[in-house]
Amino acid sequence: MMEGEGGVYVYGMMGNSLPHLHFIKPDSAEQAEGGGAEASGGAWGVAGGPGWGPCSLLLIVSNNTLSHNAPLGAEMTVTIIVGTQWGDEGKGKITDFYASKAEVIARFQGGNNAGHTIVVGDEVFKLHVTPSGVIQGDKTVVIGNGVVLDLYQLKKELDELKDRGIPVDCLFISDRVHLILPYHRKMDGLQERLRTEGTKIGTTGRGIGPAYSDKTARTGIRAGDLLEPDHLRERIKDSLVQKNILFEAAGEPIFDADQITDELLELAGPMIPRIADTSALLNDAIRQGQSVLLEGAQGSYLDIDHGTYPFVTSSNTVAGGACAGAGIGPGVIDEVVGIVKAYTTRVGEGPFVTELTDEIGERIQEKGHEFGTTTERPRRCGWLDMVMLRRSRDINGLTSFAVTKIDVLDGIDKLKVCTAYELDGKELTMFPSSLEKLGRCKPVYQEFDGWPEMSKDDYTKVKEVGMDALPENLVKYVDFMAEDLGIPYHIVSFGPGRDETVDLRPDRG
Ligand code: GDP
Ligand code: IMO
Ligand code: MG
Repeated sequence: MMEGEGGVYVYGMMGNSLPHLHFIKPDSAEQAEGGGAEASGGAWGVAGGPGWGPCSLLLIVSNNTLSHNAPLGAEMTVTIIVGTQWGDEGKGKITDFYASKAEVIARFQGGNNAGHTIVVGDEVFKLHVTPSGVIQGDKTVVIGNGVVLDLYQLKKELDELKDRGIPVDCLFISDRVHLILPYHRKMDGLQERLRTEGTKIGTTGRGIGPAYSDKTARTGIRAGDLLEPDHLRERIKDSLVQKNILFEAAGEPIFDADQITDELLELAGPMIPRIADTSALLNDAIRQGQSVLLEGAQGSYLDIDHGTYPFVTSSNTVAGGACAGAGIGPGVIDEVVGIVKAYTTRVGEGPFVTELTDEIGERIQEKGHEFGTTTERPRRCGWLDMVMLRRSRDINGLTSFAVTKIDVLDGIDKLKVCTAYELDGKELTMFPSSLEKLGRCKPVYQEFDGWPEMSKDDYTKVKEVGMDALPENLVKYVDFMAEDLGIPYHIVSFGPGRDETVDLRPDRG
């Protein structure tokens, strides 16, 4: 619904149907119809009682024109942030950094297999499914349709954020998002248990694969189904028929559809007002020239198509996935920023050409605190791999990259960077798709002189002086990446804290 001029749009509920766009006067105390008020309340409902009062932060200001009539992408500032390696590159930290200048931050794939860490002063936030932009406190955050959503985890995370004083009222969930239900988690564990030695993936056990399998098998449950309880019950019953046969055959307890439906409806009740057509929300924001950040999870080599299959996750983690997973078109994308950790890590199984199993690997693991944010498993560590990064540049269409954890390499005498692979006496400069071949590839290294241990003050000087304040060898190391990839780096991160970040973009300080 859109009326009049000079006001704002708000996404609100009408009765039990899906949310609509509502137009309200900027100074009007009267909020959108229905407002989802009946359904809100409880520990994590839209706080402040009836209507969308506290969510005025997420109202999208219309510049005295009906924005729906403006061409898409008129003033676009849409940035995708993706991991270029095997995840845990520091996407959470860099998303939070970019988010200070954005209005809307959306996750577009993955689920609570992700673990994104944001450090602000003494506070450490570990987010698994809530977009990292939430920590800024005044942003609209969106869980896009491409995500698989565990409402149990989301409730836990939002409760915790609220307890720590972070406002969570401006979170929207796509009506098309697929839900991770208890039987998905169970199936994840069972599948992993039944895989034979050498074929185990080492999943996070969060039900990601089975939830995406249901989505493509067309037996998934979507957030929008929560608005139609009878239909939801039938969908869950239907989805459980085959699964219960498998659980029974494996000697596992079976699931009761009614029990799951009742529990889900109770859990989801306060969440109903947050369920919206987030594609419409994002497109509207883009039309109005708002800054939108699309926060990737995992990394390019965990992508279901482009990663080291089958040792991958179940979604498209590459930048192209952002369009399908957020419901926007590729024409509106402004920038694609690849997050590059200054070395390589991997959690779980699968080949890893530059893996270090010596004391340097241990040193990097210890100094970089390379232990999984989600499962606390130790991350395997290795040298930087340009063969991987070149392919990442191409499959993501990177326009720039951000280097993270450069400080972890301080004090290492000689650093190595893999520039090619050797296979059967030949040099490969592109990443092979065959895991058998990849497993036999040997790294071809270029050696770099290291730089001394640096203090936080040493690094902070870069903010005033620029990269010249850093040791020459460090600059050579980072410049080498940019020259090889043919794209610039705009961000250098030298510690986990929000302020331990250098922004080299000419228009930023
Ligand atoms: P994500 O999954 O890509 O968001 O990354 P994670 O949060 O799982 O892992 C990155 C880890 O490195 C977190 O503990 C961050 O706090 C930390 N971190 C991020 N950037 C830097 C950095 O530049 N230096 C150091 N030492 N730690 C960093
Ligand atoms: P962030 O967003 C690192 C890995 C798992 C496993 C494989 C499949 O924090 O970078 P899944 O549970 O997705 O079916 O597991 O993918 N994996 C990650 N590794 N960072 C992540 O996310 C990951 N998400 C999944 O360890 O090897
Ligand atoms: Mg992580």
